[in-house]
Amino acid sequence: MRQVIAVLAPEQVLQAAPELAAVYLSAFGAPGYGEEPARAEAFATDQLPLHSQRDGFKFVVSRSADLITGFAYGYTGQRGQWWSDRVAEAVPAELAEEWIGGHFEVVDLAVVVEAQRQGLGADLMKALMTGLPNRKALLTTYVDDRPAPRLYRRLGWRLLVADLGWGSALFGMDMAVPPPPGPGRVGA
Ligand SMILES: CC(C)(COP(=O)(O)OP(=O)(O)OC[C@H]1O[C@@H](n2cnc3c(N)ncnc32)[C@H](O)[C@@H]1OP(=O)(O)O)[C@@H](O)C(=O)NCCC(=O)NCCS
Repeated sequence: MRQVIAVLAPEQVLQAAPELAAVYLSAFGAPGYGEEPARAEAFATDQLPLHSQRDGFKFVVSRSADLITGFAYGYTGQRGQWWSDRVAEAVPAELAEEWIGGHFEVVDLAVVVEAQRQGLGADLMKALMTGLPNRKALLTTYVDDRPAPRLYRRLGWRLLVADLGWGSALFGMDMAVPPPPGPGRVGA
């Protein structure tokens, strides 16, 4: 089935929140991920309303026959926000100085189980990262070898810290650096 990628405005994200929670639960509730339905509900009722107000908020979805099959989103992260401050405390001061504050923060990426392994995760990330004004981008992901960290590496993300101390790896992308030649780089 053909997949269409679109950028949603904040109000469209909030309208679609229950459907997005179902996508979240399919992806993060799968074996090996183990998130509970209550976490997916909090994603819709707490996380999305909070994050959709942030500067630089960008949310992309994939749809097939009008059903949302995946999403990726982020915003411009700043010191004083929970994630930025938590990461800043866990990394060397020089790294924090160089990377944290004004960066684009990729918060979540999810594809429903039935639509995985067709290139949708990569397409969502490329759509999310294209045209951003930020000079740097950051994300945290799993420390072990699984689809998400493999996908980020494939798209040109650089491992900055292998384990922040709570089972998350920190990856960064310097958008000022021109992409290497050939396929497999975000924005290429
Ligand atoms: C991470 C995630 C979003 C990836 O979504 P996806 O749509 O499966 O991503 P892609 O299809 O682009 O790539 C996944 C794999 O499918 C492979 N693939 C892509 N197109 C393919 C095709 N046509 N045929 C066969 N394999 C294909 C990719 O090479 C990749 O393989 P790898 O994992 O061995 O490196 C998805 O696995 C997911 O939702 N996981 C749970 C939530 C999660 O981890 N989110 C990220 C948190 S940081």
